[in-house]
Amino acid sequence: MALTLEKEQQRINCQKVSPTWGIPSLLDDVRDGLLQSPRKLPAKYFYDDHGSQLFDKICDTQEYYPTRTEDALLETAASDIIELCKPKHVVELGSGTSRKTRRLLTACEKHDCQVKYWPFDVCEEIVREASENLVDEYQWLDINGLVGDYNAGLEHLPHLEGNSLYVFLGGTIGNFEHEAGVSFLSDLRKTMSSDDMLLMGADRVKDEDVLNAAYNDKEGVTAAFNLNLLNVLNREIEADFDSEKFKHHAFFNQDESQIEMHLIATEPQTVKLSALEEEINFEKGDSILTEISRKFTFSTLRSMLEEAGFRLDEHFSPDNNYFSLVLASPV
Ligand code: AVJ
Repeated sequence: MALTLEKEQQRINCQKVSPTWGIPSLLDDVRDGLLQSPRKLPAKYFYDDHGSQLFDKICDTQEYYPTRTEDALLETAASDIIELCKPKHVVELGSGTSRKTRRLLTACEKHDCQVKYWPFDVCEEIVREASENLVDEYQWLDINGLVGDYNAGLEHLPHLEGNSLYVFLGGTIGNFEHEAGVSFLSDLRKTMSSDDMLLMGADRVKDEDVLNAAYNDKEGVTAAFNLNLLNVLNREIEADFDSEKFKHHAFFNQDESQIEMHLIATEPQTVKLSALEEEINFEKGDSILTEISRKFTFSTLRSMLEEAGFRLDEHFSPDNNYFSLVLASPV
């Protein structure tokens, strides 16, 4: 037992990826977003421990189709993807618990494709835990964890011998506004070699009721996820938000082709932000934009990739076109 453990640990490495550029702190983002009009904050602050747990619960709600749709799609497409790409490395941006990555690793196993897995995430603990589970499940797999923030640029990702498959799943590209998404993908494109490929998941435009339901689950998990942001602010910047005085509001904005999540003040109130020595006054109905989740058509997805310097090689989607997986190459 002790021996196996030792062997397994030798198959796991972990390193920090230093930022290419400085990124705003929460205080900066509060100053530039929450204290401006319209009030908004980047969606990444949802994911403290409790928020990450709530997100996992969202994925299990009946209404939230993206996770299970993408997973089913990966299950059917993984074999083709691995055969087409035959990677030496799989580098996953925002790997989290690496739940869906198993589909790719299983396909690698099937095709005798010996890859090294490079999970990249902000949270070292999650990278380590995911890695330990994976080396148990895949006896042949070596893992090199990468700890850093992909919002801080990708220039310091390690240079890898042999071709890599870069993986960006979950539809997280939808959290970026168009320009930011294109610049993120262009940045990734610059770190890639000509024989590397990108596998990306993106949510699609569909029936408005289906979209709205996915962000307004009946159990109220998404509402709790959204409201948890106020607890994050209370803790991290010594604010005194009362989450009872805000309500979750999520809807599909047709013109922008995006889900918007807001927190709406249910009564007039003043909130103290002690760490900033600031106050915010809310009228009843005032909102904070906490997340956008863009929904793509095949054509908006392809043109975003092209704008970022990629060519779309393969497109996988289920019969109902609820979600897309794209395989793309640098041009
Ligand atoms: C993880 C960004 C893909 O936009 O659907 C789920 C986050 N927010 N429910 C999404 C989320 C509310 C999710 N992404």
